[in-house]
Order: sequence, then C-alpha cells, then structure tokens
Amino acid sequence: MRTAKRMENLPPYLFAEIDRKKEAKQAQGVDVISLGIGDPDRPTPQRIIDAMAGAIKEPKNHQYPSYSGSMPYRKACAEWMNRRFGVELDPATEVLALIGSKEGIAHLFPAFIDVDDYTLVPGVGYPVYHTGGILIGGKTHWMPMNDSNDWLADFESTPADVLAKAKMMFLSYPNNPSSAIAPVEYFDRAIAFAKEHDILIVHDNAYSEIGFDGYRPPSFLERPGARDVAIELFSCSKAYNMTGWRIAFACGNAEAIKALGTVKSNIDSGAFTAVQDAAIEAMLGDQSDVAEMSALYQRRRDLVMDALGSIGLSARQPKGTIYVWARIPEGYTSAQYAGEVLDKAGVIVAPGNAYGPDGEGYIRISLATPDDRLVEALERIKTEL
Ligand SMILES: Cc1ncc(COP(=O)(O)O)c(C=O)c1O
Repeated sequence: MRTAKRMENLPPYLFAEIDRKKEAKQAQGVDVISLGIGDPDRPTPQRIIDAMAGAIKEPKNHQYPSYSGSMPYRKACAEWMNRRFGVELDPATEVLALIGSKEGIAHLFPAFIDVDDYTLVPGVGYPVYHTGGILIGGKTHWMPMNDSNDWLADFESTPADVLAKAKMMFLSYPNNPSSAIAPVEYFDRAIAFAKEHDILIVHDNAYSEIGFDGYRPPSFLERPGARDVAIELFSCSKAYNMTGWRIAFACGNAEAIKALGTVKSNIDSGAFTAVQDAAIEAMLGDQSDVAEMSALYQRRRDLVMDALGSIGLSARQPKGTIYVWARIPEGYTSAQYAGEVLDKAGVIVAPGNAYGPDGEGYIRISLATPDDRLVEALERIKTEL
C-alpha cells in the first residue's frame, strides 16, 4: 500500500502515547478519569430531541439534503445571528450549512490555499487549522501566543515574505485551549491587517455560547468592515450539547461562502435535513438551557480554580469555553507532566503542545466531566503528585 507523501507530514498523534498508557492502566483495574476531551457530558436538551423525533419521520428528509443547507435552516441561522448579535445576513448568499465546524475548517484549505501558500495559525488552537493545510500542501505560520500578549495571536509580527504568500488566517475567541477572550479592538486590528494584506480571516466561534461571570462572547461580524474580509463559524456542538449530531454553519463574506460551498458540493452532500430541522429548534427555541450550561461550567471552573493552587499549578480565570489552561511546574514538558498525572493519579489531561508550539509548558483540563468525577480527579492529583 503506497499512501500519499503528504501523510508523512502530519504531526505525530500526541494522544497516542496517553491512549496506550490509559489502556495499560485500565488493564490493571485502575478507574481512569478523563479530563482530556472537550465533549459535553450533558445530553442534548429534550426540546431538540423532540424536534428530531418529528423531523426523522418526514419522507422528504430521507432524500439527499441541499448542498448549502435547507433554506429554512439558513434562514434560522441568519435569524439566530440577528437575535444573538444584531448581525444581519442574507441567508441565500451569506450562510452555509456545515457538517460540524471541523468539516468547514478542513474544506476551507482546498478553497483558499494553493501549494506553498501560507495560513496564519494561532500558536495554540484547534489542530485542524494546521493539519488541514498539510493535507493539501500548504504551509503554516504560527502566530505567537502566550501570557505576555494575553493569548491574542500576534499577526502583526508576521514576516513580509510569509505575508506575501499568506491567504488565510484563523482566529478563535473564546479560545480553545487557552480559554482567552479577545477585546473588540483586537478584532478591529485584525480586520485592518487583513484588508492591508488581502487575507481571509476565519473566526471560529465554537464557544460563542459559553461565557462566565456575565460575559457573553461577541460575534466577529459585529465589527465594522468584518464582512469585507471575514467569515465566522458557529457550531451547535458545544452550544447545545450536540457534538454527535454534526451540525454547524459558516457565515459572512459572500465570496468566501461561495468558494467554500463549491468545494463542499464536490466532496459531501450536505448535512442530514432532519438534523438541520432539529438545529432550527436548537437556535430559535427557548434558550434557557444555554444559560444553564454556562452556569454549570462556571461552577466546575470554580471547582478547578480552587483546587489548582494546592496541586502546584496556576491558571488564568477563564471567562468562557469548557477548559482551564494550566501552567505546569518547572522541570517537566507538557507530555511528561500529563504522563505523570495518568501514571500516578489515573487522570487524563491534555498536554498543551498538542495544540501548537506555544502550548509547551501547559496542560488543558476539560470541564466536560460530571462534578463528582471532576472533584475526585482533582483530589487524586493533589494527593498523588
Ligand atoms: C475551536 C474549535 N473549533 C472547532 C471544533 C469542532 O467542532 P465541531 O466540528 O463539532 O463543530 C472544536 C471542537 O472541539 C473546537 O474546539
């Protein structure tokens, strides 16, 4: 079997070693607790399941879906953007259904990146911003991101030779994994930068609905001129506990939406229409479950933040997302520390370097774990390490 050369350029799967250790631990009878994955532990709200139960009985939903999303779905996305952010969109040209935002991120590369073109990628972020480029022969420029710039990816330091070949830039706030949020002035600087250098901004707003202490994450498209240079991705995955349903949307700049739609129509055949119908209920129905989920994660954030000091870790207090991004003690790499936590405490945490070069020295703790398991995991780390 001869696989493509580009497969060799994919980075090693950093969870592979952890998975191996986890299986070994479980074989020894250890009750392993995972704080590794960002997959909501709570079920999808009942109102959405009920909508799906009706939609799945509709024979017209059993046929091929529309490539760009059903018009009722796209109208619901536009309506949600208007209700939530006051952003007005044309559902026909400025909204595109996605089979999860991961799918949209991956397919933006064939739409915008030729061989050897650069994508500007945050120093830590969702791994597909980088691997999506590798798979089509593109190059990544990592934008520095650390405590001293408040984890706001530094696009302004991009060298001129990279800029000459840069076509696309990913930003994502509230940020996975650092849980940083961005002031709107940062978005405005990014828009000016993208205009100057003719770069498409993709703002990944996967955590738009999870904010703490009264903070409600904004839309990038609220900013003046954003639509000239940007698209934004929203997902039902974290907002409505729907990771398994695979439904999201892209919106904003019509030319970029059209290009992404063209790629998609050659690769997939759209999201299951019954799932789109259920997502309409998710977005336009009673939103009280959204506030409840933020309150739940905020409580868990507080549990983790209270425990960190006694474990010897430090973290900034997250204002959103479902993660705590903790600095590890000196003398360890992220992978070593995550390995020790698993070895000694039987707890899985994600090593920061799995998210990009600026993640070295950190671990990511997921809040998508039931309270009792979270408390037990923290207790074990405190006593065993
Ligand atoms: C920042 C970010 N973007 C995108 C995704 C993908 O989400 P989905 O494909 O489920 O919409 C995730 C999932 O964890 C994420 O953290």
